[in-house]
Amino acid sequence: MATMNISRLRKSFGDTEILRGIDLDVRDGEFVALVGPSGCGKSTLLRLIAGLEVATAGKITIGTKDVTGLPPKERDVAMVFQNYALYPHLTVRNNMGFSLKLRGANKSEIERKVVDAAGILGLDALLDRYPGQLSGGQRQRVATGRAIVRDPQLFLFDEPLSNLDAKLRVQMRTEIKALHQRLRNTMVYVTHDQIEAMTLANRIVVMQSGRIEQQGAPLELYDRPANAFVAGFLGSPSMNFIKGQIRGGRVVTEDGTALPGGNSAGGSNEGREVLWGARPESLIPASQGFSARVEVVEPTGPDTQLLVRAASAPLVVLLRSRSSAAAGESINFDVDQNDVHLFDAESGVRVDAKA
Ligand SMILES: Nc1ncnc2c1ncn2[C@@H]1O[C@H](COP(=O)(O)OP(=O)(O)OP(=O)(O)O)[C@@H](O)[C@H]1O
Ligand SMILES: [Mg+2]
Repeated sequence: MATMNISRLRKSFGDTEILRGIDLDVRDGEFVALVGPSGCGKSTLLRLIAGLEVATAGKITIGTKDVTGLPPKERDVAMVFQNYALYPHLTVRNNMGFSLKLRGANKSEIERKVVDAAGILGLDALLDRYPGQLSGGQRQRVATGRAIVRDPQLFLFDEPLSNLDAKLRVQMRTEIKALHQRLRNTMVYVTHDQIEAMTLANRIVVMQSGRIEQQGAPLELYDRPANAFVAGFLGSPSMNFIKGQIRGGRVVTEDGTALPGGNSAGGSNEGREVLWGARPESLIPASQGFSARVEVVEPTGPDTQLLVRAASAPLVVLLRSRSSAAAGESINFDVDQNDVHLFDAESGVRVDAKA
């Protein structure tokens, strides 16, 4: 296990700069989830950490060792890829033991470590099978097992669950969390799935266009996104946004609708053009508040999702209960002042309360 420090890391392919100055500290035993839109540089960052790509500038330290210029095998890092990259002609046992064999470990040591890892991952009965005889979830476990037997300082996962169907994903997500709680290893985990990131990670790092937009504990980012990008990226369904201007403690939209202004809509913020934001679960039917017209009602069982329109904008509402709302009717919604998010209309940066 180890800490990792990344400082001012840059990577260009030809003239195109893909990573534009990454600074990241990972604590010993921490589970860090790396999220961001497709093409923002997540895999590139992971490949740089693993040594599969060479940095253009900057430094990567694992433990106390500067690994920036070292080849992959001298970094003591194990990576699990999206497609698992198992050897089709080797059994599960030999796939899992392969790296130890390369390293020159003796047979009994390899067997002991493989059997240990197989026990942790529930693969005992499958050791003599070939990858082609396994289900997707089992292959995923073998790929993880191959990383575990190496007992690396650092685990890197690049979207390890994205090839699995929805149900298996949720099951494997729980297994990975249990595995981390058991091994207490340091992990950097790339995912598209922000629910996966929220549930697994001690810390989420949100990237966009080769930069880190914000990092912090999952609920910290969810409750206090630093900008409109992070606010919109984390959460499903996404946060609702409407443009408006701060006037007299409220946010007034172009068509004159007065939205609850929250804690920042006062003092010297008066008159500021903002993006008003509220999460779907923060919109509460109320006797006061602003009026919205219901367009679509979607009961899912435990909750009800409404698509409504207010101030000419479409809004998603998530009610944690059954609802008698019907398409075509008008309902008033209110938002607790602590649940209103305001972002500068131009820069997208969070607007804080000002005297
Ligand atoms: N070897 C390469 N040569 C040139 N460009 C590359 C190379 N590898 C990656 N890129 C480019 O770098 C950018 C970042 O790619 P990367 O694979 O890191 O994105 P990502 O965040 O992992 O995306 P995804 O979520 O789709 O996996 C992309 O625009 C990609 O086309
Ligand atoms: Mg990727």
